[in-house]
Amino acid sequence: MNDVYILGIESSCDETSISIVKNGTEEIATTVLSQIDIHKKFGGVVPEIASRSHVESVTMVIDDCLKKANMTLNDISAIAVTKGPGLAGSLLVGVEAAKALSLAYKKPLIGVNHLVGHIYANKLVDEFSFPLISLIISGGHTELIYMDKDLSFKKIGATTDDSIGEAFDKVARVIGVPYPGGPIIDKYSKEGEVTYSLPIPLDDDSYNFSFSGIKSAVINLVHNEKQRGNEIREKDLCASFEDAVIKALTKKTMKALKEYNCKELLIAGGVSANSGIRDEFTKLCNEAGIKLIIPEMKYCTDNAAMIASAGFYMYKENMFDDYSLGINPSLDL
Ligand code: KG4
Ligand code: ZN
Repeated sequence: MNDVYILGIESSCDETSISIVKNGTEEIATTVLSQIDIHKKFGGVVPEIASRSHVESVTMVIDDCLKKANMTLNDISAIAVTKGPGLAGSLLVGVEAAKALSLAYKKPLIGVNHLVGHIYANKLVDEFSFPLISLIISGGHTELIYMDKDLSFKKIGATTDDSIGEAFDKVARVIGVPYPGGPIIDKYSKEGEVTYSLPIPLDDDSYNFSFSGIKSAVINLVHNEKQRGNEIREKDLCASFEDAVIKALTKKTMKALKEYNCKELLIAGGVSANSGIRDEFTKLCNEAGIKLIIPEMKYCTDNAAMIASAGFYMYKENMFDDYSLGINPSLDL
């Protein structure tokens, strides 16, 4: 097969990202326009503002990425775009842009599941060895997936309520840290000690997760300490929270690897940028002889390179879409 260059478009939330990836594994160029500063003052992403910002910037971001790659749309093999899950208005902007490019330049169109994108971000690091377990931990999802070949996904566990990213962001809000709080909790945790007692979320034998309880436990703890006139040691609270969620994640993931006889673990999604999570999985996988792949930070959070990479494996299987391609804000795996 000749070299395949996929142009990826990712606009499912608050980032307009365009990337060109060669043969699914080599990032040629990426441009990301983050809206974080716009949404920060509202304490979270405002969907209407997000979609308007995508409309304003998508053409410019595409041009910039092509310029960085020193390529034109004629050099591109296919257009891959996130079709869901995500914010409806934001997804629509990406999908309509992809259709317009596909039509104008006669390029195949590939609608990509955002979660598949997160998993395939790992292809930018290394090849996959099947069977494997993939743990998706993001602002919208917490899922354990079994894969025995490319593009085959068996969900073996998921959160029953909040995602892990929501828990990070909500705990951050409780201690007055601006959105998105995950990176700051990460930083504080490293500087704090595990001194507060918090329950390990859903500490049972299932592969499911639950993060709403720990959020309430943190709120109650802060409330009780304040009533007693005690200062909250914020860094210790972050370290204690992170310790509890890491225990829940590692216990279930390591058990799944053993039970499904897998020798490889992929971790994906925005929360996999967390250094405490990375360190603990690195240690446990070393001990258990499991190969661990976690993308570089820039491929952990939402990015179009992961969509282009997933798009390549779909391209190989002729998994193309026609112009009836629509969005699905609650798309599952
Ligand atoms: O995957 P992502 O970029 O968007 C979704 O698809 O949801 O994930 C965003 C989430 C946010 O909740 C953010 O707080 C969290 O990832 N996050 C982190 C870190 N960096 C980003 N959480 C913990 N530690 C981090 N270092
Ligand atoms: Zn994501």
